Amino acid sequence: MIYIVGIGPGDKEYLTDKAKKVVDSCDIIVGSRRALNLFDIENNKKIELSKNLLNELKDIIKIKDKNIAILSTGDPCFSGLLKTLLKLGVDKKDIEVVSGISSIQVAAAKLKISWEDFTIVTLHGKSENIKKLINLLKNKENVIFLPNNLKEDAKILINSGLNDDLEIYVLENLTYPNEKIRKMKLKDIAKNNFSYLTVCVYVRE
Ligand SMILES: C[S@@+](CC[C@H](N)C(=O)[O-])C[C@H]1O[C@@H](n2cnc3c(N)ncnc32)[C@H](O)[C@@H]1O
Repeated sequence: MIYIVGIGPGDKEYLTDKAKKVVDSCDIIVGSRRALNLFDIENNKKIELSKNLLNELKDIIKIKDKNIAILSTGDPCFSGLLKTLLKLGVDKKDIEVVSGISSIQVAAAKLKISWEDFTIVTLHGKSENIKKLINLLKNKENVIFLPNNLKEDAKILINSGLNDDLEIYVLENLTYPNEKIRKMKLKDIAKNNFSYLTVCVYVRE
């Protein structure tokens, strides 16, 4: 069985008991170094994923007769590894998903907003979604989005005709000691570099 285990936004306190139990019970644990470091795992059980993740996962899913836990940031069913494994051809009956707390949920909690009032868009590996984001922002609709490269995304938004004074919440490194939450104008976002771990929120005035 392959368990796709949501590890939450990053801080150990956001790990579920279920995630810990499943990881304890599996023969092989696969994940980024950041994800693996959240658990106490014997070295011979760990497989650390690199940037070449797709090829590595292709090999891992060929392993038979072992229980494998694949660690996925936040919740695996949102812009996460569930889709990746299904695309690689893993049968749904061979997968169990363990939900995790998504970065989107933590962002909503920090800003004290109800996320059912927001459209959620991910540009993460889906740059074609930028058109959808532009339309939502032009119509002044509430949006939570995962950027691709936020600096470059902001430049595209400005070039599309959006007002560069438009303000967006930028939430970096949520739950980590270096967490940073700022309300920034698009023109300032376009001049800065941001963490890979960033969620953005536009709240209609
Ligand atoms: C591959 S997506 C996975 C999303 C994940 N499945 C979730 O539910 O949050 C990775 C992106 O999630 C967002 N993210 C994940 N953890 C985060 C955190 N601690 N702080 C801010 N953004 C985070 C960032 O946009 C990051 O680039």
